[in-house]
Amino acid sequence: MKITLLLVFVSILISCQKKKGEIDSFALTYPDYFPTPVYDFTNNELTKSRFLLGKKLFFDTQLSNDGTISCNSCHAQVHGFAGHNVALSAGVNGALGNRNSPSIANMIWSPSFMWDGGVNHIEVFSVAPITNPVEMHETMSNVVYKLNQSETYKKEFKAAYGKDVITDQDLLRALTIYMSMIVSCNSKYDQFRQGKINFTADEASGYELFQQKCASCHSEPLFTNYQFVNNGLDSVFSDLGRAKITFNPSDNGKFKIPSLRNVELTYPYMHDGRFWSLDEVLEHYSSGIKNSETLHPSLTNGITLTSTEKQKLISFLKTLTDNQLTGNPLFY
Ligand code: HEC
Ligand code: HEC
Repeated sequence: MKITLLLVFVSILISCQKKKGEIDSFALTYPDYFPTPVYDFTNNELTKSRFLLGKKLFFDTQLSNDGTISCNSCHAQVHGFAGHNVALSAGVNGALGNRNSPSIANMIWSPSFMWDGGVNHIEVFSVAPITNPVEMHETMSNVVYKLNQSETYKKEFKAAYGKDVITDQDLLRALTIYMSMIVSCNSKYDQFRQGKINFTADEASGYELFQQKCASCHSEPLFTNYQFVNNGLDSVFSDLGRAKITFNPSDNGKFKIPSLRNVELTYPYMHDGRFWSLDEVLEHYSSGIKNSETLHPSLTNGITLTSTEKQKLISFLKTLTDNQLTGNPLFY
């Protein structure tokens, strides 16, 4: 009797996993409590050859002007696909940008990209880092020219996209396919959501605190609602954030709410990497909120947290670490 019940339970769990775009036994899977992705693959179907090509490009330093920087230089699997634990990542010639490299897991659910939402489609996204003078400092036409010199790349592009000549559009599409597979959905939190494990007492009360105090912005299951918000880091803005794109002063100091999946690994935190630990982040929310005209109204008086509550919240945040993703050989 017990065994039958267990089997029924297990088969329900298995049927919770959606499969999409399955080709060459290669599939994008995510739990059924995830929403439908924003990116729909209609013009760029998921195939193994496209994924492998995208992966090669992601690690290829030819995408940068001096051949030293790849996408992987600033988005590392072991750090949850965020920067290498530096506040600001160095691009070509050691040039520093002014923003922290965010995690690029679960990008197919994101309706906008960059801390200020300056890019709205993942298929055009890679033009930004490739051409940014403080990142890869290249031109699209020169990257495509370099790739077309390689018979191996020409073969791989032909297998993936069916053309004799490599185009910038296919380069961008292949990078999109690689990124689209970077799905974080196997953390302890997910195991808990799927009824496979229990939380410890601290994790469980941390989860409750999180739902009360943080989830209005860092909403489950992706741990962001993708809005642009001023969370009180500054009262004078050296980086205008969202207002850089909208030119609307009511957006001054607003930044895209980051996902907290793998947050244990993605330090330092915030758009400029100013905080090095989760303790500092919670200190900010409880006693460091800076007032300004665009501060989110829910933060006017900060978020009250005792020191035990902070520890419990951190225990919960650590359940968002997805070792299956950070150790998955598919990506290296
Ligand atoms: C020199 C470091 C650096 C390199 C190289 C780099 N990135 Fe980034 N990446 C960043 C930074 C910094 C941001 C945030 C930029 C901003 O908001 O202004 C970012 C943002 C992103 C985002 C948006 C994330 C989000 O949540 O909005 C994606 C996607 C991304 N990068 C993919 C790539 C790809 C693909 C490549 C290679 C073609 C690449 N990056 C190369 C540093 C880098
Ligand atoms: C009113 C919306 C809002 C609330 C409530 C909120 N946050 Fe945030 N959070 C943000 C925004 C916006 C950012 C990015 C700010 C920036 O970099 O300029 C952020 C950034 C973070 C980061 C940094 C993540 C990274 O990768 O850099 C952490 C960690 C974080 N929040 C945790 C929490 C916790 C824990 C709570 C509850 C105690 C909370 N937040 C409540 C909006 C919010």
